[in-house]
Amino acid sequence: MEKLTKQLIKTAKSAANNAHCPFSNYPVGAALLSKSGKIYKGCNVESSSYGLSVCAERNAIAAALVDNAQAFSALVIYSQNGATPCGACRQVIWDVCGEIPIYTVDENNNTKEYNSKNLLPEPFGAHKLE
Ligand code: THU
Repeated sequence: MEKLTKQLIKTAKSAANNAHCPFSNYPVGAALLSKSGKIYKGCNVESSSYGLSVCAERNAIAAALVDNAQAFSALVIYSQNGATPCGACRQVIWDVCGEIPIYTVDENNNTKEYNSKNLLPEPFGAHKLE
């Protein structure tokens, strides 16, 4: 496995350690690589008003946008059993990152590779709003 992917996995795991998930007890960490080579991380942050909870992936995207990162090359998502992104995150990943490789990793380091398009076929997107 590429050194950079290993670094992304390490970062996603460390982000999961900071997850605020007292309701699900399901920590998730995400690491998003920008084209300029920076890594942005996110963890899930849950609320007692459950619907306000935000997934790790969208928090990583927010961290990147705050830093004015605008182009991305890979996303790694770590959870105990290799969660793939939820539907809402798939939409936001597509909107912000476009077509990128997406890796899921579980606690035994099993890694699976997807991409934005195969996780969200026939996406709605900015082109419909032109
Ligand atoms: N979650 C994520 O952060 N990312 C995923 O890919 C799947 C689900 C979070 C949301 C919630 O805090 C917890 O995991 C259980 O659904």
